[in-house]
Amino acid sequence: MRQTAADPGDVGPPLEPLDLAGRGPVIAVIVIDCVEHAVPMARALVEGGLSVLEVTLRTSAALGSIEAIARAVPEPLVGAGTLRNAADVRSAHAAGARFAVSPGYSGAVVSACRAMALPLVPGVATASEVMRAADDGFRFLKFFPASAAGGPALLRAWASPFADIVFCPTGGIGIDNAPAWLALPNVEVVGGSWLTPADALAARDWPRLTRLAREASALRP
Ligand code: 3PG
Repeated sequence: MRQTAADPGDVGPPLEPLDLAGRGPVIAVIVIDCVEHAVPMARALVEGGLSVLEVTLRTSAALGSIEAIARAVPEPLVGAGTLRNAADVRSAHAAGARFAVSPGYSGAVVSACRAMALPLVPGVATASEVMRAADDGFRFLKFFPASAAGGPALLRAWASPFADIVFCPTGGIGIDNAPAWLALPNVEVVGGSWLTPADALAARDWPRLTRLAREASALRP
């Protein structure tokens, strides 16, 4: 699959999904309820050292938030998560998402991302899905839901048969168990929502987000 932007003027400089792995150690997975929170939230996370933000399409504020961040906060790579179908991909692309993440492996999502030249990190939870994704040319996959689907032991077991695949585990990861994931040979970056707690967003507690981001950035000096 072609995963670089065909028209750099349209979606920004070409971006291979693996670039995301190099911008770790943590991708912020964000559920946002209020577009007004988007820009100060992104600035707070960037101040704490994060550079990849995944805004999940789980709320009505998500697309507007992606648009606002893309427009006002140039430093981070902002992408869209929880893409479940082609319409989600089109909406994310139109909002200015620089990359796409899906919770599972969907041919429709893969085709739509290919049509939009939008880099995709597809989700997998089984060996068969890894094989299908690898057949389609993907080498950087989201492992979801990471803790429930088998934890670090499962990814360790996959390191041998899928030695050419790098995973971004998400789902059930926090500051305490992130080091165990990051120690795996096939993990360069983890994802998690712990950096943007709902109560901190509601309270507009931006310094708390910066502290959480700083702590996460220090996971890999
Ligand atoms: C995701 O979409 O990656 C997950 O919902 C994040 O999982 P978490 O909320 O357990 O970090």
